[in-house]
Formats: sequence, C-alpha cells, structure tokens
Amino acid sequence: MRTFRFILQYIKKHRFQYIAGILTLFVVDFANLYIPELTGTVTDGLAARTLGWDGVVSCLVSIFVLGLTLAAGRFLWRYFLFGASRSIEKELRNDMFGHLEKMSVEYYNEHKTGDLMTRFTSDLNAVRMSIGPAVICVFDASVMTVMVICQMMFYVDVKLTLLAVIPMLFICAGEIYYGKIIHARFLKRQEAVSGLTDFVQESFSGVRVIKAFVRERAQLRAFAKANRNSMEKNLDVVRLQSVVMPLLDVVIGLSALITLVYGGYLALVGDITLGRFVAFNQYINMLVWPMLACGDAINMFSQGAASLRRIQEILDEKPEIFDREDALEVDWMKGDIELDHLTFLHRGHSEPTLKDISLSVPAGTTLAIIGRTGNGKSTLVNLLLRLYRTKPGMIRIDGRDINQIPLKTLRENIAYVPQDNFLFSDTLKSNIAFGADDWDMDSVVRATQAACIHENIVAFPDGYETIVGERGVTLSGGQKQRSSIARALMKDAPILILDDALSAVDTDTEEHILRNLKQNRQGKTTILIAHRISTIQNADRILVLEDGEAKEIGNHEELMRENGIYRSMFEQQQLEAAVSRQKAELDAGHMSEETAKGGTLG
Ligand SMILES: Nc1ncnc2c1ncn2[C@@H]1O[C@H](COP(=O)(O)OP(=O)(O)OP(=O)(O)O)[C@@H](O)[C@H]1O
Ligand SMILES: [Mg+2]
Repeated sequence: MRTFRFILQYIKKHRFQYIAGILTLFVVDFANLYIPELTGTVTDGLAARTLGWDGVVSCLVSIFVLGLTLAAGRFLWRYFLFGASRSIEKELRNDMFGHLEKMSVEYYNEHKTGDLMTRFTSDLNAVRMSIGPAVICVFDASVMTVMVICQMMFYVDVKLTLLAVIPMLFICAGEIYYGKIIHARFLKRQEAVSGLTDFVQESFSGVRVIKAFVRERAQLRAFAKANRNSMEKNLDVVRLQSVVMPLLDVVIGLSALITLVYGGYLALVGDITLGRFVAFNQYINMLVWPMLACGDAINMFSQGAASLRRIQEILDEKPEIFDREDALEVDWMKGDIELDHLTFLHRGHSEPTLKDISLSVPAGTTLAIIGRTGNGKSTLVNLLLRLYRTKPGMIRIDGRDINQIPLKTLRENIAYVPQDNFLFSDTLKSNIAFGADDWDMDSVVRATQAACIHENIVAFPDGYETIVGERGVTLSGGQKQRSSIARALMKDAPILILDDALSAVDTDTEEHILRNLKQNRQGKTTILIAHRISTIQNADRILVLEDGEAKEIGNHEELMRENGIYRSMFEQQQLEAAVSRQKAELDAGHMSEETAKGGTLG
C-alpha cells in the first residue's frame, strides 16, 4: 500500500496525460466494438440478399472511418501513456541520483555499486512497465471485457454469453493467486541480477589484480556460479509463466468450444441469425486479448512492485550528514581551524581511530600531518570535510562548529586532493576544472603549472583534450596525483588539503611543487599529509599521529629537539636516503666502467 502511495505521487503529476491516454483508449475500444457488428450486418444482409451495393459501400466507408479512428487513437494513447511513464521514470531516476548524492561515504561502503546500478536500470525499467504498459493493459482489458460482454449479451444472446464466459471466471480467480507467487519470484530474481552486476563491475575494476594474481579461472568459476544463480531465478519466473500461459489458452479454447457448440445450435434452430453467430465468434476472439493482457498486467505489476520496493529502500534511507536547522550561511572563510579534544570512532571499530586531539591551525599557516599508515591521517581530514559525522564542538572553523556550517559552504571553501586521486573518464581540461563553475583556459594552465603537470599535458598528442580513465589514456601515478593537485588549486579555496598527494612524484618535482604552493597559498591555510619528512619539514606546525593520538606537535626544529618519534623517523629516512644515494653512485660507477671496457674492446 505504501509502495502504491509512493508511486501515486509521481502519477498525480502527470494525471492529465493519464486521463487523456485512458480516454483515447476508451474511444479505440468503442470503435473496435463496432467492427464485428458491421461484419454481422453485412453477413446477414448478404445471406438474406437484402444488402445492395450502396449498403456494402456505406459499410465499407464506416469500416474505413473506424480504421482511421483506431489508428489515430492508438497513436494518441501510446503518446500520452508511454510518454507519462517515461517521464516518471526520468523523474524517479533524477530523484534517486539526487538522493544518493546526499548519502554519506559510509553508505557507499555498506552498499555495493552493482546493486545500486541494477536499481537504476532494470528495477526502474520494471517500474516503468508497471506504470505504462501495465496500466494500458488493465484499462484496456477491463473496458474491453465489459463492453464486449455487454455487446455479446444485447446484440447476440444472454445465455450464450454467460455460458461462454464461465471458463474465463476461472482465469480471474487463478490470476490473483498467481500474482502473489510471481511477485516473490521477481524479487529473488532482481536480487540475483544485482549480485551478478556487482560481480561484473568489481571484476572489471579489479582486472589488474586478477591478472597479476592469475585468478582468471577462479574468477570465471565464481562468475559462472553467480550467472547460474541468476539463470535459476529467471527460470523460476519463466517456469511459472510457461505453465500459466498455456492454461490461459486452454480456457480460451473452452470458451470457443462452447460458442461453437451452443452458438451453432442456436443459429441452426434460428434463435440467432448467421451474422450474429459470426459476430459472436469475433467477440470471443476479442476477449482473448484482455485475458492475456490481465496475465501480462499481473506480471508487470508484480515485477514493478518488487522493483519499486527496492527503489524505495534507497529513497527511504535518510542522509546521515545534512545541514542542521541552526546552520548559518557564511560568505567567506578565513581558514582558522581548531580541533578540540577530537575523538572519532569508525563504524564497526571498537577502538577510536582518533583520540583526544587538540590543536589549532591559525588561518594562513601550514599544518603537516605525519604518521605511520593506518594512523588516522585521512580520517582526520575527512572529518574536516564532514564526510563523517563528528560530535558538536570538536572541530571549529573560524570559531564555528563545523556542524553549523552549511555543507555546501564548508566544502566549497576547502580544496581537497584525495589520497586515491580519482579522475573521471573525461578530458584532462574538464577534470582539472571540475570544481570550478566558471573558468578559462588561463586559470587551468596556471593551476597545472603550479602542480608541475603542464609540460606533461602539452606533450600528449591531444594536450588538454586528452581523455583519461577508462575511455582514454592511463596516466601514471605521479601524473594522476599532479592532475589532482591542479584540480584542487583551481579552486583557490581558503583551506587546501593534500592527502599524501606527493607520494608518487620524485623529490625534485616535489620541491618544485612545494615552492609553488608556498607562493600560491600565501595567507591561506594548507594541510599537508605525507610520509616523507622532506615534504613537510618546512610546515609551520607538524602533527605526529601515532595510534590515533597526537604524540608530538611543533615545527621541525622543535620536534627535532624533542628527540621523539619525529626525530627517529627523520634519522631513519636520512639513513635510507644516504644508502640509496650510495647505491646509485656505485651503480653509476659500475656502468661507466662497463662502457669504458666496451670502448676498448670495440
Ligand atoms: N570508512 C571507514 N570505515 C571504517 N573504518 C575505516 C574507514 N576508513 C578508514 N578506516 C579505518 O581507520 C583507520 C585509519 O585509517 P586512515 O585511512 O585514516 O589512515 P591513514 O593514516 O590515512 O593511513 P595511510 O597512511 O595508509 O593513508 C584504519 O584502521 C582504517 O581501517
Ligand atoms: Mg590515508
């Protein structure tokens, strides 16, 4: 019932289209009904030789006019009803997409992409069928049935009609029962399809891992299993349909038999004329379609209801992160960040990822965060972006609790280079200008120059028009990172966050980018996450995270003096750098010896 009310909201918006469609459907049915009567009149007239040439011509003209009406009517009801259902499908899809965009990151962690995609495609399709073709079937079938039966009774014979429609009553009773079973089967089938889509989606995204670990066979076996499951669930539906459809034929055949036997008898004894007997046969045939249509409509409604429930599940889920009522609009942020006893527990974890972190980042300064992997660095910056929920008062920007800042304002004022450097399958130009509403090529080039990627881009044959990602060239890790930095720099926001964004670039380029950043970001806040001390040693403050705790805070010199984690990391990295330098020198020496030898031999 709730599902019905839900879809009714959408249908109501297109009620005029539905009304117009159904009215034209009635006109078509009405016109259809006159054809057997005309044939009957012609047959009787010809049999009794009372019909002259003029009569035949007028009957033919009537049939022609009826045919034209039918053609126009059929075009119009399709136009109105299919149009309405397509519009509703589009509106539902927009609403789903808009709603999903509001969902938190955690929602996506808990829901598989393939499953969500199935709801967008095959489920929506099923819903469309149930509000378009199925509605047509129901109205057409019921109006046709009532009209045809009335016509059969009044134009031909009441007793014959009653006898002929008895078998059809069984169909109605049976179809109610059938509807319930098929609904459950449809639901299972959609789940299986979701599982399969999900599997395919993951396998293609993870194709490199599958190949590297030579898991193609295992993957194929797993796919075959998911595929078999989907086939079985589909077969469950088909099996039921294939029993029911022939049964319908049997019942319809029974009606035809009764007509032939009893109707033939009535015609022989002269109770009905030959023309009416012929017309009656045509009427019985006209009842076949409504009966079949009822079966189809039940299928479509069951499938649509099952799918609509899956769509409703998405729309019922409330976004966890939203603008509070006391959220106040701010035009411009200074970028003053304050963490006040920030503690955060990830869902499903027993230990907090971040523990009691207090720290302030005055506007215009640079904070660096360093710490071993899995220590909560990314979590901390995600909290700043409100990708997860924090308790009130734990994070303040410009003195205001971030929960009170509208999400749009907050995120517009933060430029973010995520750790995974995701780029869309689009041109490099569009990827870099992704966050900016109005932009020109000069600003794109400025951003790419600051991120040291401009030279790389112009070296591509298509330059800034190069398509990246699935549809185009694959960028190297470092190129992706720098494109992603350029994308963030385009925003010129008061706060910039770089999450491990320089890990894949060499130290020279890194130095270059850092120098550019220093110039570009004057007076603005920057948060820099890194594993290499070389990246962060010039930051105004450095936060050392260990087990989610702020173990050390200070600038490079202070932390070195503290003689703690930071210093030991620094010394270890220095040592590693020295070792690799030596190794490189040795290799180079070895190489020149070889060349010298080669030279003498040659
Ligand atoms: N969405 C999430 N749901 C649950 N746990 C999460 C989620 N994201 C991260 N975690 C957990 O939080 C902890 C900290 O992860 P985080 O990504 O913040 O570490 P990190 O310091 O950025 O690590 P790295 O240096 O490898 O990037 C990890 O134990 C991780 O498993
Ligand atoms: Mg991280």
